[in-house]
Amino acid sequence: MKAMQFKAYGDPSNLVSVDLSPPIPKGREIRLNVRATAVNPIDWKLLSGALRWVLPLKFPQIPCFDFAGTVDAMGPEATHFHVGQPVFGMLPIRHLGAAAESLIVDEHLAAAIPVGCALHPMAALPLAGMTALQALRDHGQITSGQRVLIIGGTGGVGHFGIQIACRLGATVTAIGSTKNLDLMRSLGATEVLDYTQPNFAVGKRDFDIILDAHGQRPFSDWEPSLAPEGHFVSLLPSLPLVISALRLRITSKRRIHIVMVKPKRADLEWLADGMADGCLKVHIESEYPLERLTEAFEQSQKGHTRGKILITVS
Ligand SMILES: NC(=O)c1ccc[n+]([C@@H]2O[C@H](COP(=O)([O-])OP(=O)(O)OC[C@H]3O[C@@H](n4cnc5c(N)ncnc54)[C@H](OP(=O)(O)O)[C@@H]3O)[C@@H](O)[C@H]2O)c1
Repeated sequence: MKAMQFKAYGDPSNLVSVDLSPPIPKGREIRLNVRATAVNPIDWKLLSGALRWVLPLKFPQIPCFDFAGTVDAMGPEATHFHVGQPVFGMLPIRHLGAAAESLIVDEHLAAAIPVGCALHPMAALPLAGMTALQALRDHGQITSGQRVLIIGGTGGVGHFGIQIACRLGATVTAIGSTKNLDLMRSLGATEVLDYTQPNFAVGKRDFDIILDAHGQRPFSDWEPSLAPEGHFVSLLPSLPLVISALRLRITSKRRIHIVMVKPKRADLEWLADGMADGCLKVHIESEYPLERLTEAFEQSQKGHTRGKILITVS
């Protein structure tokens, strides 16, 4: 099988194409013919070595977490799927390896692709979609009628976040750059704010949830916009944010949460239902074949992805 591989920490130009023997599934594992994977910023952050103190990698390493494909072989105890079935999912953060023609995964980390859903775009959904869902539902405790602010409303996480918040009955304000205002409206945001304008400010507001999918401004910039019992949900841990979280615990009913996405079949099924009934759409900005993964990572590194970058494997 063909795969893209890193031999050591480095930038995307260090990716090489390799030919490996297909792995054999054991226990409750299934083997997939991978049709597509997708790029997430954590892919190139992990491989750069920037996170090596918290998430060290062994090399050689095949990157990427998201996958969509068909079941090709099953371990002796795997019972949930059948050979030939289209499935999608996310590998656990410590076990990346989806940028390959063949992939082994424990069956509880995959979900069936509903009849009628195109197979390839489902690879764009798992990591970013589950992050948005777990951030809003599990950390933000979102309920119908709430007001939600999404910072970075057209990135992988943000563009699912807008749609999921709307689907759960919230009213969404989204922040992005000028070129993305129409996209954020089309995803369901009722108010859009352009961070590139010189007079950009959110000001004093009462958002029940602020989902920060950008993470580059200090919490103090957003604090005046958070309701007295509001939840600020960040995707990027930092020491100042942890200190602010401790301060709020002592001084107010506001809460700060730091998300670490966890793959769960039930959440994949929730997202798949949304795709099947048309409530949830994946915006694919661009597609690259597997052997051009380097270019796809370099595009993601610019920090302005509109929706998702898809990698076609076969
Ligand atoms: N903790 C976790 O479990 C977890 C899970 C997933 C992702 N993450 C992290 O969360 C972040 C977002 O992930 P992603 O996949 O959504 O990234 P992405 O697809 O690269 O999207 C980045 C977004 O940031 C926006 N942006 C850039 N500059 C901005 C600014 N100054 N103000 C507001 N928005 C700005 C971009 O919009 P414009 O094009 O309009 O500038 C784009 O929508 C990444 O750092 C990622 O590593 C963490």
